[in-house]
Amino acid sequence: MKIDEEKLTAFLYGTNLKELKKIYSRVVIDHLINPEHWGILGDANSSVKLTGPCGDTMYISIKVRDERITRCTFDTDGCIASVVCGDIVSELIEGSDIKEAMEINQDTIIKFCSGLPEEDKHCVLLASDTLKKAIKKLT
Ligand code: FES
Repeated sequence: MKIDEEKLTAFLYGTNLKELKKIYSRVVIDHLINPEHWGILGDANSSVKLTGPCGDTMYISIKVRDERITRCTFDTDGCIASVVCGDIVSELIEGSDIKEAMEINQDTIIKFCSGLPEEDKHCVLLASDTLKKAIKKLT
């Protein structure tokens, strides 16, 4: 069954997909429509909750086995960009070792998104900072 992206976006985020497509790349839209890592791990080895200057919160949990990140999930009460960035950092670190995961930063996320508007940069920072704290707890 084909997903009606327009209806899903309106339902999940209360916004118009056509307008979002003018602002964001297809990669961003894909993560927005289908954030595969949204959720909380019950058996995480590390979980961190961080609130950004905008007042929104990001929660990241990580599961590790034999020094490798086997699963990462996020949760947020934040904006569209925070959902996208939470999903992207989770995707990027799965399968990485802890050292590789530490190298993910704001630039990595922005490049992966094929760019983001200036006003979303603090949302990228929130995801990046939460991830770093969660990884640090593992070391
Ligand atoms: S506006 Fe708060 S995380 Fe994006």
